Amino acid sequence: MTYTSDNLGKVIELGPITDILARPLTELDLGSLIDHFQRMNEVDRYTRFFSAVSDDGIRNIVDGFDWSRMIAVGAFKNNLLLGVAELGWESGQTPARSELAMSVDREYRNVGLASWLIKDTFRMGQDRGVREIYASWLGGNDPVGRIMNRLNARMSVDRSVCRADIALDPSFVGATELDAGS
Ligand SMILES: CC(C)(COP(=O)(O)OP(=O)(O)OC[C@H]1O[C@@H](n2cnc3c(N)ncnc32)[C@H](O)[C@@H]1OP(=O)(O)O)[C@@H](O)C(=O)NCCC(=O)NCCS
Repeated sequence: MTYTSDNLGKVIELGPITDILARPLTELDLGSLIDHFQRMNEVDRYTRFFSAVSDDGIRNIVDGFDWSRMIAVGAFKNNLLLGVAELGWESGQTPARSELAMSVDREYRNVGLASWLIKDTFRMGQDRGVREIYASWLGGNDPVGRIMNRLNARMSVDRSVCRADIALDPSFVGATELDAGS
């Protein structure tokens, strides 16, 4: 599948949410990321980090992000980071295989924000050489399953952990837009 979304740097509206700006995140956004993750409740922290995480734990996780091994796109409204989609890879300089993670503030969910961020993250990933993306989530986290389904991911389940695999098009050269959600 090829992703050529080009929303980065543009101000858009999604459903009732106006004036959203999506852009790549950098180390300069550490504070916004920490604030965004710390606004999550216990359940969301568990689903995002696969463990119970305190505020200090979140700070440590974000401080430990290795920005040379990740791509992150964030959506801002009035300088508040509403949501983020991230791709991370294990080692080496070619991120051929990357893991996807995502989160959106509760009051901004279900208008497509995560799906939108994911497509821009995939596009950036493709440009960096990402060819395979995978995501894991706990069974019962239905929104993630819906999103992965709409991305035509190959889905599997092992006990209560769901997994999606998505292959990106190696011939991608930045052509026309494909809305993977349609
Ligand atoms: C997963 C998450 C990022 C989704 O964010 P979002 O911006 O609401 O996602 P979208 O609006 O793009 O899509 C949500 C989809 O889930 C569906 N959905 C929402 N709540 C649902 C529910 N309770 N049951 C089933 N489907 C649901 C929506 O209808 C939508 O699907 P559709 O587009 O086919 O209609 C957000 O729920 C979140 O931050 N969760 C906590 C962190 C997490 O679990 N991260 C994933 C693991 S890394």
